[in-house]
Amino acid sequence: MPRRVDQSRCHVPAGRGSTVCVLDVGSTKVACLIAKLKPAPEEDLLTGRTHAIEVIGYGYQQSRGVKSGAIVDLDKAEHAIRRAVDSAEQMAGLTVESLIVAQTAGRLSSENFGAKVDLDTGAVREADIRRVLAASGRHQIPDGRIALHALPIGYTLDGQDGIRDPRGMVGDTLGVDVNLVTSDRSAQDNLALLINRCHLDVDAMVATPYASALASLVDDEGELGAVCIDIGGGTSTIAIFADGNLVHVDAVAIGGHHVTMDIAQGLSIRLEEAERLKTLHGSAVASGIDERAMLTIHPVGEEDGTSPIQIPRLTLNAIIRPRVDEILEMVRDRLVRSGFSGRIGRRIVMTGGGSQLTGLTDVARHVFGRPVRMGRPLGVKGLPIAARGAAFSAVIGLLIYPQLAPAALFEASGRSSGTIARLGRWLRESF
Ligand SMILES: Nc1ncnc2c1ncn2[C@@H]1O[C@H](COP(=O)(O)OP(=O)(O)OP(=O)(O)O)[C@@H](O)[C@H]1O
Ligand SMILES: [Mg+2]
Repeated sequence: MPRRVDQSRCHVPAGRGSTVCVLDVGSTKVACLIAKLKPAPEEDLLTGRTHAIEVIGYGYQQSRGVKSGAIVDLDKAEHAIRRAVDSAEQMAGLTVESLIVAQTAGRLSSENFGAKVDLDTGAVREADIRRVLAASGRHQIPDGRIALHALPIGYTLDGQDGIRDPRGMVGDTLGVDVNLVTSDRSAQDNLALLINRCHLDVDAMVATPYASALASLVDDEGELGAVCIDIGGGTSTIAIFADGNLVHVDAVAIGGHHVTMDIAQGLSIRLEEAERLKTLHGSAVASGIDERAMLTIHPVGEEDGTSPIQIPRLTLNAIIRPRVDEILEMVRDRLVRSGFSGRIGRRIVMTGGGSQLTGLTDVARHVFGRPVRMGRPLGVKGLPIAARGAAFSAVIGLLIYPQLAPAALFEASGRSSGTIARLGRWLRESF
């Protein structure tokens, strides 16, 4: 069995510095970052952050043994992780023992529920907040699922909702609304097992869309309500923020790699060539005269050495478009189903490597019927240019996560009990 995850170990309190190691085992790439988090004045930082982040070691590798975010070959995946972590360690000049890890697999989903307690004294004391959070921690998780995050998203007093900090207020009944993010237990266990096989411990598992949103939402987007959509290689994930809280996550097992496979099949070419064609010449929208430009491809024939042929760009783009429509329509349907579609206004942020396909945001504007902006990870120093793009939002978001202790009050770990969690050290520190 994988070793138990203790989420509280990754918390970096405001005012204190720390070195943080993070890992994203994606379907396309494995990325490891080691960074120094230094406390900094609010005016020097992006909204919501308490620390300046400087990357001192990085390593990234083509992923192996991972399909749609799930581990399909432990040996291959272990090898890719070891190489990425080794590079980061060598560059930083230190040895990584444990890290914060992104989790994409296991049908990520959110459930919002409430818990209530009676107030003995008529006023809310810190002990009452502990009691109501403890009550919510007894919420039962379905068999086969495991809690990843249990985030208080607001308090209620005698039925009045939307209270951010009820301490000192008067009333008879205190309630808390919680966003519980869960995944299939086996997906998390196998990810933890894989990390343990690399002789590393897991400090915390963070849902990929949550991490991506932390890196790419800016200013007041999270407060006003926004959705961050991470289009990866094998998955597309969404995180919805409202009133500064993560209120919903979802994931679909489809991404940029499906576009590449369609091209490879449609044109009878190898996957590497399809990938190159897609990134260099592909577009999700037709672009007038350019569409007639001719591209040279090398179909895979029955015999070696089949001669190259020419196809118009139009043919390539006609293969790309239906898959992009499918991905974005699936994401839109999940957004509508979440019930939060009305809360995000016009703030739709797309990130992840797959979002970089030319024309994808134009199609997204059409599918969502609202403006869409491309999001890149922001506010991190020391990264090479290749790791500053949208594909690195999730791994960079993992560096931001430890600064958010007050938002993540639970040790989300109920492995044996089937309930959410026991209260973590963070809670005791926070109140
Ligand atoms: N410039 C580009 N144009 C089009 N597609 C791109 C571009 N750059 C990267 N991609 C696509 O992005 C995808 C990889 O994205 P990313 O690195 O975010 O995935 P991942 O995190 O490894 O996978 P996942 O999150 O699904 O587990 C690939 O399908 C790749 O083809
Ligand atoms: Mg990813």
